[in-house]
Amino acid sequence: MTATDRTPAGDFERTPGGAILMDGNRLRDEVVADLNERITALGNPHVCLATVLVGDDKPSQIYVRSKRRKADEAGMMSRHVGLPADITQEYLEEAVLELVNDPHVHGILVQLPLPEGLDAERVLAMIPPEKDVDGLTERSMGRLVRGGEGHVPCTPLGVMRLMDRYGVETSGKRAVVIGRSTLVGLPQVLLLGRKGCDATPTLAHSRSGDLAAICREADIIVAAVGMAGLVTADFVKPGAAVLDVGISRTAEGIQGDVDFDAVQEIAGAITPMPGGTGPMTIGCLLENTFHAARMQGALPQES
Ligand code: GUN
Repeated sequence: MTATDRTPAGDFERTPGGAILMDGNRLRDEVVADLNERITALGNPHVCLATVLVGDDKPSQIYVRSKRRKADEAGMMSRHVGLPADITQEYLEEAVLELVNDPHVHGILVQLPLPEGLDAERVLAMIPPEKDVDGLTERSMGRLVRGGEGHVPCTPLGVMRLMDRYGVETSGKRAVVIGRSTLVGLPQVLLLGRKGCDATPTLAHSRSGDLAAICREADIIVAAVGMAGLVTADFVKPGAAVLDVGISRTAEGIQGDVDFDAVQEIAGAITPMPGGTGPMTIGCLLENTFHAARMQGALPQES
């Protein structure tokens, strides 16, 4: 089945306009349940995710709490390091180094952005690839480019998992990624274009000219710019898959990059916002943590 086929198939829920609803909460729960089953079958080995949160940014606190709660549901341990916003770079680096050197910690997540004045690049550079479950360090990105063993950034990986789960064909398809961030856009393009996925990705951004025309060529649109409602119906080819990674806090509440109500009338598959790509970031973080524990020799062989 492809997203361009709008006839009912499988047990996929559909929007009022007939698009497949790519439900990230549901897939995240499947991922967490699968991890729990695998960890239980292995005799509950110690698998630990460490989270580092600096400052008291409310959304970041909510994200980190949610990551830790889901780690617990997956049968993993989590260790939290909460630090005040006025912490020095040196003290923060000391705290991260402790986690790097602790053999009981398998994955380290430093919640971004850090408060002003702190150098995130220097902190990330301390995390070795095997513990970099966020996949955001230079070495992890290098491994992604060069096809080495390592962790892939969670949000773009979650987008790939959603397309796979909801039957969106990628091979030979044209994809447009809007936004060129290191967190999402750049790794997303690599994942879409790599062997096995085999899409033909275009990286669009604020200087791309006629964005609507570029997007109308695409079978797959991944919107990751943080501009509320940017992707309107005239951006979308009938039957295309549309995945919304954007998040903007507006007077009307949290909004994605996609005008969901209009686009669901035309798309073949679409993520809701919230409840689409966000939950899958957490699902993929926990999968990465499980693989991190394996890379560090902390898991018995699976039968
Ligand atoms: N802030 C927003 N998204 C992310 C993410 O995926 N990882 C980290 N570390 N910080 C974030």
